[in-house]
Amino acid sequence: MGERIERVLVTGAAGVIGRALVPALAERFEVKATDLVGGDGIVVADLRDARAIEGVVAGCDAIVHLGGIANEHRWEEIAAVNIGGTQAVFEAAKKAGARRVIFASSVHAVGMYPRALLGVDVVPRPDTFYGVSKVAGEALGRLYAEKWGLEVACLRIASYQERPRDRRHLSTWLSPGDMVRLVSACLEAPTLSPVAPQGFCVLNAISANTRRWMDDSGWAHVGYTPVDDAEVYATEVAHLHGPEDEISEQVQGGFFAAADYRGLAGDAG
Ligand SMILES: NC(=O)c1ccc[n+]([C@@H]2O[C@H](COP(=O)([O-])OP(=O)(O)OC[C@H]3O[C@@H](n4cnc5c(N)ncnc54)[C@H](O)[C@@H]3O)[C@@H](O)[C@H]2O)c1
Repeated sequence: MGERIERVLVTGAAGVIGRALVPALAERFEVKATDLVGGDGIVVADLRDARAIEGVVAGCDAIVHLGGIANEHRWEEIAAVNIGGTQAVFEAAKKAGARRVIFASSVHAVGMYPRALLGVDVVPRPDTFYGVSKVAGEALGRLYAEKWGLEVACLRIASYQERPRDRRHLSTWLSPGDMVRLVSACLEAPTLSPVAPQGFCVLNAISANTRRWMDDSGWAHVGYTPVDDAEVYATEVAHLHGPEDEISEQVQGGFFAAADYRGLAGDAG
């Protein structure tokens, strides 16, 4: 069991999740924020610049790594920012002697699985280059945990939203409040797993959704107890979905799984 975590760096702090998470974590930890774009109290650092990342990581006990491209994009961008940048974060954490990294992985690492209850100990089935980058991030996390003793929690975030907006979200929703509860639990848990390697875990990151397709493996061990359930929005959104015979309605990853989905690469890619 290591020292208590006090100083926490949040990457991607200017993003959708970061903007909500930073003030919530600041109630319990000394929080430092970084992003590619500046803003109130945010230190600018590009994930593609390993030395800059070393600079912001120095002195922190833990890193909540949210920074990156949060959508499908051209391979070059995904590889540089999401894979290269994530390696830079783990490497900087190791060099700085940080204790723990919480990595924002994604359901898109396993997005090609059908819509049936899915655990965390499964072979990756990414639905995009973006999903591949999350598989790589999890593998990097396991490498740094098993080889160099860094503690790493990989959170397979499904759909972080203020509220569910379609039928899929009734299964995949992660509420802002539950995201704070999950990250806080991962920062405060004495160990991340009951079995070796005790300093590593992959967790499905969703709320307590009645219709969930992702299981709760590891939640009790880290002390995550979600309180929100997307079901309260069912009458508003259950009718919002695409044609049942399309892959986007059959697999966990939704429209990311469609053969022609290009995300931010758009037509230009
Ligand atoms: N929102 C979701 O539902 C969801 C689901 C699964 C996984 N995730 C993951 O959670 C994390 C946060 O998601 P979000 O919804 O807040 O995304 P977001 O796009 O709002 O935030 C990502 C942040 O990363 C920053 N960033 C991008 N490139 C960078 C670079 N080169 N250097 C430094 N910073 C850079 C952006 O400026 C942005 O502020 C991402 O890693 C995303 O892949 C999110």
